[in-house]
Amino acid sequence: MSAAAVDWARVKADFPVVNGRIDGQPIVYLDSANTSQKPHAVIDAMADFMRHAYAPINRSAYRLAAAATDAYEGARTKVQKFINAPKAHEVVFTKNATESLNLVAHSWGGANLKRGDAVVLTHMEHHANIVPWQMLAASHGIELRWIPLTADGQLDLTNLSTLLDGAKVLSFTAMSNVLGTITPVAALCKAAHDAGAVAIVDACQYVPHNVTDVQAWGADFVTFSSHKMVGPSGIGVMWGREALLDAMPPFLGGGNMIADVRLDGFTCAELPAKFEAGTPPIVEAVGLGAAVEYLSGLGMSNVRQHEMHLTDYALRTLTDRYGDDITIHGPRNVEVRGAVLSFAFRDIHPHDVSQVLDQKNVCVRAGHHCAKPLMRLLGANATARASFYIYNDESDADALADALDGASDIFGL
Ligand code: ALA
Repeated sequence: MSAAAVDWARVKADFPVVNGRIDGQPIVYLDSANTSQKPHAVIDAMADFMRHAYAPINRSAYRLAAAATDAYEGARTKVQKFINAPKAHEVVFTKNATESLNLVAHSWGGANLKRGDAVVLTHMEHHANIVPWQMLAASHGIELRWIPLTADGQLDLTNLSTLLDGAKVLSFTAMSNVLGTITPVAALCKAAHDAGAVAIVDACQYVPHNVTDVQAWGADFVTFSSHKMVGPSGIGVMWGREALLDAMPPFLGGGNMIADVRLDGFTCAELPAKFEAGTPPIVEAVGLGAAVEYLSGLGMSNVRQHEMHLTDYALRTLTDRYGDDITIHGPRNVEVRGAVLSFAFRDIHPHDVSQVLDQKNVCVRAGHHCAKPLMRLLGANATARASFYIYNDESDADALADALDGASDIFGL
């Protein structure tokens, strides 16, 4: 099936909020890089599970609990297949991608990095892939190095081998939440390994929009969130290579993650329970499983094609209409960018732009997008950001362009 064969209008019809109205007018939801809307399939799967099948997992012998455990573990297997992970028990459920990155930094990094070791990051990272390493820099004395950007918002890899020389970690985004830039993940993982470093991929903005194959990437750890991929909030994923996970200490201690506890210490459970302390997000796992099935039904290469078309259309529509009055950050080439458009519009503050757009029910995010170092590089405190997904179409880009006219009227520019 090709992207052209997908009935995208039917897809849109699956998302109740996207088809809702405020003050009698349609909602134009362009904030999916922040969090995505949910289809009936996910909402119903979670509601049905809570109504008819909810029970604890891993703890009780009765059939209801066994079925709930199967549902939870079934979600893990679905995620494993979705990202082509070798083994289901390498897929660890966390609270979100931020927790996943903290888990890797604090558990793997805390155990394996020592004073003077270098961790290489990029200038386009989300705070979730900066602050945990800065915390480790404070506690362990590690050195942070930064891959700079080109003028069009791609990674400048000119000095990559120098930056990686002697480094222990390369941790980077697969797709920038501000610029939309898609990074050369497989090449970066190879470069990391050639330098003897571990490759950690923040795939939070990538997995919802592209075919993901952690083995083809050759990554060591990959992190992402359910809520950006039509699943519920409250659950994220940390995938890691079995040998690395086995050798790492646990992150959180408590129930479910132990094999034994005595007064003088504890031993850990096997993977993945070792990293899933406490009652996990059971209902959310069921929802994530349904989200994975929904996206798989569309085909992730079709999702990517649809979004490339929309990105190109939105870029052309906005620049044709507004010329130099709009600055859209990031690469122009849609082969290396996803459907995220951060922009400056005339001299109007992004928060004002967002409020004016809101009057037309056009929902965009305005702010620093949890990427303050990148904002500084762009010379801005904030941008407005429109982000597109499977339930958006050309009419949404048109609505955004039309609504921007309103900003000009109100601010007299
Ligand atoms: N990281 C999310 C965003 O970019 C919250 O909006």
